[in-house]
Amino acid sequence: MRKILVIGSTGQIGSELTVRLRELYGNENVVAGVLEDRPPEKLDGTGPWERVDVLDRRELIASVKNHSIDTIVNMAAILSATGEKNPMLAWDVNMNGLINVLEVARESKMKQVLVPSSIAVFGPSAPARDTPQETVLKPSTMYGVTKVAGELLGDYYVKRYGLDVRGLRYPGIISHVTMPGGGATDYAVAIYYEAVKTGRYNCFVNEDTRLPMMYMPDCLKSTIELMQADFGRLRRHCDFNVGAMSFSAGELAASIKKYIPEFEISYKPDSRQEIADSWPDSVDDSEAREQWGWKPDYDLDAMTRDMLRAIREKHKKGLI
Ligand code: SER
Repeated sequence: MRKILVIGSTGQIGSELTVRLRELYGNENVVAGVLEDRPPEKLDGTGPWERVDVLDRRELIASVKNHSIDTIVNMAAILSATGEKNPMLAWDVNMNGLINVLEVARESKMKQVLVPSSIAVFGPSAPARDTPQETVLKPSTMYGVTKVAGELLGDYYVKRYGLDVRGLRYPGIISHVTMPGGGATDYAVAIYYEAVKTGRYNCFVNEDTRLPMMYMPDCLKSTIELMQADFGRLRRHCDFNVGAMSFSAGELAASIKKYIPEFEISYKPDSRQEIADSWPDSVDDSEAREQWGWKPDYDLDAMTRDMLRAIREKHKKGLI
């Protein structure tokens, strides 16, 4: 049985991935790494937790030893919009955090490391539609710079040390459990909450801004399927394109209107527009499909129905 440490287990993806991994591998075999000195609220009582600051290598080594960890999932990252406000923080957490994880994994002969990447590795010079797996990587954000470097670093550890490092380029991730933290795709989550709470939303990107997106159940599925894939069958490691859906902000609003006809949307682009404009509309994920059988389940309307159902429930209970 694996012994997994999820670093960043309170984040948008980490909080749900930790629960899913506990279902699969047993509560006691999945340690929630948190930055605070208290157990993560949403995960309290469901399994072990440890204070892990990804920038503190000694703390990381201690957690790995304490729990005989053989797999690290590193979800600690500063996302695109926050990264543009504080580029040095993004560099520090995303690069120094990653090298700590990789070094600890190498020294302790870890079985596997999962390090997510992002569509942010692409920049304005990459083809925007069906962006190929192999293309020019010239991102215009610090977040993107760290994700390109992170992919290269992970691949280096595979080649140089034979460490099993894997990663996938997440599109914008949409979910209803934990809010995303500081990305350019956050509007695609906020819009659902505002639709339920107030019936209107002022969107920070233009109506025709189109981006690759994915619903959380598919995000969890893709992450776990890549973790479980036969290493010998993988012809690439840290940079798999994974697609699910691609829609514009206007199409997202239209999908919500099908279920809330009185929903109103307005557009007031801010600095996040430029970030969104530098990213693909959609990605070609045929290598993920071929090498580890990737196939998403949700399209836009199926996601909208599920998001609205879950958020309405929270609203009724007075939780939002
Ligand atoms: N959702 C992320 C962001 O907007 C992209 O990986 O930063």
